[in-house]
Amino acid sequence: MISIAIDGPSGAGKSTIAKAVSKKLGFIYVDTGALYRSIGLYVLNKGKDTANQMDVAALLPEINVQIRYVDGAQHVYLNEKDVSDDIRRPPVSMAASNVSAHPEVREFLLNLQRQFAKENNVVMDGRDIGTVVLPNADIKIFLTASSEERARRRYKELTEKGEKVEFEQIHEEIKQRDYNDSHRAIAPLKQADDAILVDTTECTLEESIDKLETVIRSRMK
Ligand code: DC
Repeated sequence: MISIAIDGPSGAGKSTIAKAVSKKLGFIYVDTGALYRSIGLYVLNKGKDTANQMDVAALLPEINVQIRYVDGAQHVYLNEKDVSDDIRRPPVSMAASNVSAHPEVREFLLNLQRQFAKENNVVMDGRDIGTVVLPNADIKIFLTASSEERARRRYKELTEKGEKVEFEQIHEEIKQRDYNDSHRAIAPLKQADDAILVDTTECTLEESIDKLETVIRSRMK
């Protein structure tokens, strides 16, 4: 099986870009952030503090997370309920970032991710795929863009959905999540030594997809 690890900060367009490229390659796209989001959602729904390690760890035995594919699209099931839309709500983003800092949560999700890569040709998107989950991935990419540009893209996406949001707030949240994700003690967001850096700050979506596909295909030869 071939595995391609794509890591990078929040809002770099990783999911859209990686999804499009996996389709072109005929690979399965795995969005691992959705797994952390499902756990964040569960903890929020229970009214517990997502930053509290003990509280979150105590809830894990009640949680069953599964990834399934419906018409080629990834759906995430939390205790058999499809939560693919719920996990995209803005409060869940920070909850996911908080729960992802707890070692118990990372351990809980590790096998699920590795098993997927063992059974399928995957493009797996996350923060620690090239460093921790699949250290022997065939190709590793670190996909990023400036925080301003990521905030602009996110702002556009949310306002187009009709959500009322402030650009500055979005930008602050992105910077806060970057900080959280790259400063946590366990499996922090960082570029693997053998990852190829792909910066899409100056690229349109189409250009970003082309750029990533070109880099990947050149390494697959
Ligand atoms: O990619 P995303 O925004 O959906 O991810 C949500 C959060 O999950 C993000 O703030 C960090 C965390 N995450 C992680 O720690 N490791 C991963 N492999 C994927 C996501």
